Amino acid sequence: MINIKDKEIKELLNEMTIDEKIGQMVQVAGDIFLEDDINVSTGPLKNLELSEEKLYNVGSILNVIGAERVKKIQDKYLSKNRLKIPLLFMDDIINGYKIAFPIPIAQGCSWNLEVLRNIAKISAMESNIAGANVNFSPMVDLSRDARWGRVMESVGGEDPYLGKVYAKATVKAYQGEDISRLGNIASCVKHIAAYGAVEAGRDYNTVDMSEREFRQYYLPAYKEAIENGAEMLMTSFNILNGVPATVNKWLIQDLLRKELKFKGVIISDYGAIEETIAHGFSKNEEYAALNAIKAGVDIDMMSKIYANYLKKWCLEDKEIENKVNESVLRILNLKNKLGLFENPYSNADVEKEKRYIMNKTNLEKAKKLTQETFVLLKNKDNVLPLNNNSKIALIGPYADNIAITGSWSMFSDKTKNSTILDVVKNKVGNENVLYSKGTEILRCEEINKILKVENMQTISIDNEPLKEKEAIEKAKEVAEKSDIIILLLGEHYKQSGEACSRSNIGLPENQVNLINELYKLNKKMVMVLFNGRPIQLNNVENKLDAILEVWFPGTTGAEAITEVLFGDVNPSGKLTMSFPQNVGQCPIYYNHYSTGRPHNSDFKYLSRYQDIETESFYPFGYGLSYCKFIYSNLQISKSKMRKDESILVGVDVENKSQYEGYEIIEMYIQDLYASVVRPVKELKGFQKVFFKPFEKKKIEFEINSEMLKFWNNDLKYVVESGEFKVFIGSSSKDTLEEKFEFID
Ligand code: NOJ
Repeated sequence: MINIKDKEIKELLNEMTIDEKIGQMVQVAGDIFLEDDINVSTGPLKNLELSEEKLYNVGSILNVIGAERVKKIQDKYLSKNRLKIPLLFMDDIINGYKIAFPIPIAQGCSWNLEVLRNIAKISAMESNIAGANVNFSPMVDLSRDARWGRVMESVGGEDPYLGKVYAKATVKAYQGEDISRLGNIASCVKHIAAYGAVEAGRDYNTVDMSEREFRQYYLPAYKEAIENGAEMLMTSFNILNGVPATVNKWLIQDLLRKELKFKGVIISDYGAIEETIAHGFSKNEEYAALNAIKAGVDIDMMSKIYANYLKKWCLEDKEIENKVNESVLRILNLKNKLGLFENPYSNADVEKEKRYIMNKTNLEKAKKLTQETFVLLKNKDNVLPLNNNSKIALIGPYADNIAITGSWSMFSDKTKNSTILDVVKNKVGNENVLYSKGTEILRCEEINKILKVENMQTISIDNEPLKEKEAIEKAKEVAEKSDIIILLLGEHYKQSGEACSRSNIGLPENQVNLINELYKLNKKMVMVLFNGRPIQLNNVENKLDAILEVWFPGTTGAEAITEVLFGDVNPSGKLTMSFPQNVGQCPIYYNHYSTGRPHNSDFKYLSRYQDIETESFYPFGYGLSYCKFIYSNLQISKSKMRKDESILVGVDVENKSQYEGYEIIEMYIQDLYASVVRPVKELKGFQKVFFKPFEKKKIEFEINSEMLKFWNNDLKYVVESGEFKVFIGSSSKDTLEEKFEFID
């Protein structure tokens, strides 16, 4: 049944000229509207070759936020737009708006859906009252290669199951029951498809994989997001099996629209329609427009293609005109669902911004959520938690640094970020804290390389802030006077994120030198690690007593870290990406296939490296706690299972320590023999459970036949009779196991 509103939208569509329709399919950066005197020959306008008339027909705006700015742009636009169709405001609220939360990969390490939901809810509310209608989040690209800078944005890391459950939780939290209501925003899931599989981890590179592999591992998270009502999807920059995703008819028409029945809006990534020319697919701008509309892209983000080259095809071909009508209808429907026709400002509200944004309750909440994302990677002789009475040396470029919010936190309010130095001093008193920077994050020439391609001012070598050797010597002098050294080290925030692929994923050499020199002092050393990707640690790990992985923790990072270091809070996160021994292992992931020559002995002709271990350095699902958890007594309710039956597997988990804390208990399954080989292990469930000191609990999981399904060679999703293994444990490596049989 068509309701009145739908009818009105259709009438509106009928009233629109072809130029007005195409305008709806164009997205531009909104700053253009803020220039008082619009000069069509400068800035983005020039790049996009948009006339003023075209500008006042565009349908949406990229990355403008703030109630006042949004209202100003909307007013200016509506004053010149003939049919008064409001603009849509879409933003990258990747890890929060004004409050920066931990980067997405860190959020995933909480293995707690409530953490992701709460972060999404607060981010949605803060950005919605600041005028955002759509958020370009979550990013659910399966990420197996630590060289790829965008692994920092992937909530599920290398695991399809985590990707799925996180996709659902986040989309639902952003959108709520009704996207027009205060505090809800439409979710744009990205990047469709398989962007995480770019060859050699180089951003924007090629993706080529079998359809079976794609359906099995890469598609599930996107599919889950669609099935849970995501309003929008974004195509990816990469080609997928020979055809750029943005013009890939199989992907958009056959899979997304027909098979998965996606009814919402599909937007290209930034400039991606135009890039199909550079890909060698579209022969010129006109054909780029034709290819994208034929494939079914509704909105062209930041390229001049639809605005300037789509009309010609509409006039020539009725079928293309129909496609344009379908796209525009989808866009108008989204605007309608968001309530923009009744109120073009949506929920943008300057007063609410003042009251709600960065409020105390949310900052306190943020700290707690942040603490769940930290992963304790090493804790030799229980050197952590720290003792309040020891003299602590804080050494390293992240000790007195507020740049801990990650590369996507461009909107965040940094005035509330504290430094770890200040927070620790506050906690244990100035007299107990020593400090020396020790080194910069990166050497001058390294940071300059990055700044140069960003067109930013570089640092002159003569003005290099710290002379490396002198700084290390000074740090040694300071550290000498302490009982314990806390190193605050890691990647520069500009080293992960979009266009931040690296072929060396170790700590910067100057920081390694600092560790080596301090090691000579023969003191206990703890490293707090800031980073956006798995880091190669094999050259420093043996010099450190403890390692606390904190990623880029966001606004409340300094407070959250301090409380964990001193044991007010027990760390409970676990890795969602394997840490490689070294970069030569990339891509490395726990759910790999077995070779015909698995590496399980010292025989030469096995699938191995000569120079390093075959296994990861830290496996998927790994993370320590101040508690000591012991797993025992794996039990299975029956050894045979039929289609409509289920099996219960239980395990005893005991906290053998005086600390209370959370443990993430992981359940994996392996299909031992199948018509296509199956991975050595696949995560199928997890529970995050609280334990009191010395508490023992029986933890149970249910296994059903749905969990045993896979894509076979005929591209059917099936379960086959045969033997399976179930594993329960504290990581993908440390598990107890049992066998069972499935009988069809
Ligand atoms: C490019 C990025 O790939 C995408 O993730 C982002 O949402 C858009 N730019 C918009 O900024």
